[in-house]
Amino acid sequence: MKTTFDFPAWIQGQLADVEQALQAWVPGSAPGGLGEAMRYAVLDGGKRLRPLLVLAAAEAINGHREAALRSACGVELIHAYSLVHDDMPCMDNDVLRRGKPTVHVKFGEALALLAGDALQALAFEVIAPDPHESGISGDVQARLCRILARAAGHGGMAGGQAIDLASVGGSLSETQLRQMHRLKTGALLQASVAMGAACGSAGSEPASALDRYGAALGLAFQVVDDILDVTADSATLGKTAGKDAAHDKPTYVSLLGLDPSRAYAQALLDEALGALAVSGLANTRALEALARMVVERNN
Ligand code: IPE
Ligand code: IPE
Ligand code: MG
Ligand code: MG
Ligand code: MG
Repeated sequence: MKTTFDFPAWIQGQLADVEQALQAWVPGSAPGGLGEAMRYAVLDGGKRLRPLLVLAAAEAINGHREAALRSACGVELIHAYSLVHDDMPCMDNDVLRRGKPTVHVKFGEALALLAGDALQALAFEVIAPDPHESGISGDVQARLCRILARAAGHGGMAGGQAIDLASVGGSLSETQLRQMHRLKTGALLQASVAMGAACGSAGSEPASALDRYGAALGLAFQVVDDILDVTADSATLGKTAGKDAAHDKPTYVSLLGLDPSRAYAQALLDEALGALAVSGLANTRALEALARMVVERNN
């Protein structure tokens, strides 16, 4: 008999570990108020979707728990840094994030810039502990760092953000828009799944199915972000609604309209679930539920 899966309880259990680890690893005291700005950016807020994806993928392949928890925190640190910089006046110029004033509003631009820099460095420190003390082999650590570095850098998030900034006020073809979304947002989400898989020894077929799942989910996530920017309010989002149109950004909604964008997100969800179905993995319930959550969320 198939037992039912208590997804809220699963999330609660995973997040308890993630929050405790982040509390421990993000420093309280760093020079010049830097620690305070870093903690403000990371703790107390956010859906923690990327950590949950790492942990769900690691669970699906019976991966090493400490490697997964470190990877989960590492990718969240990169994500938090990307949000700090994304909100700065030279980028999206936003004043609200995770229901609070943005880091540069609270601490000033220079400290926001440095908090982002320091969070990025901390991500790799967390993922690469002493192999003897942690029991995580140097090979696994190097693989995890490589996946995260690629997804964060010029061929991933930072590259996608550069396309985003260059396209303000202009228009993109659907192919170009898809590529921008895959890079600026999809890459870190896809990497989250890949890092979870790298915490164990998934065979090549399950690993490639997980990769297709992560790619579809990653793109779906930003399509839904574009939709919510139009349909949700700032209080629900915890960030300023309506800012894509206000800043004249090309988005799925501006290119296709709302209903076709929703249909596209749904098609990507089907693609993600389809990949899980042929993965040959027995325990993909959390990954399935997370994919649905990405597309059905309201914030
Ligand atoms: C927001 O990401 C930025 C994008 C990549 C669209 P999230 O919606 O995951 O933000 P938090 O972590 O929950 O605040
Ligand atoms: C940027 O996308 C995603 C990042 C790489 C941080 P958005 O600029 O649309 O993210 P939000 O809407 O400000 O969270
Ligand atoms: Mg942006
Ligand atoms: Mg933004
Ligand atoms: Mg957005």
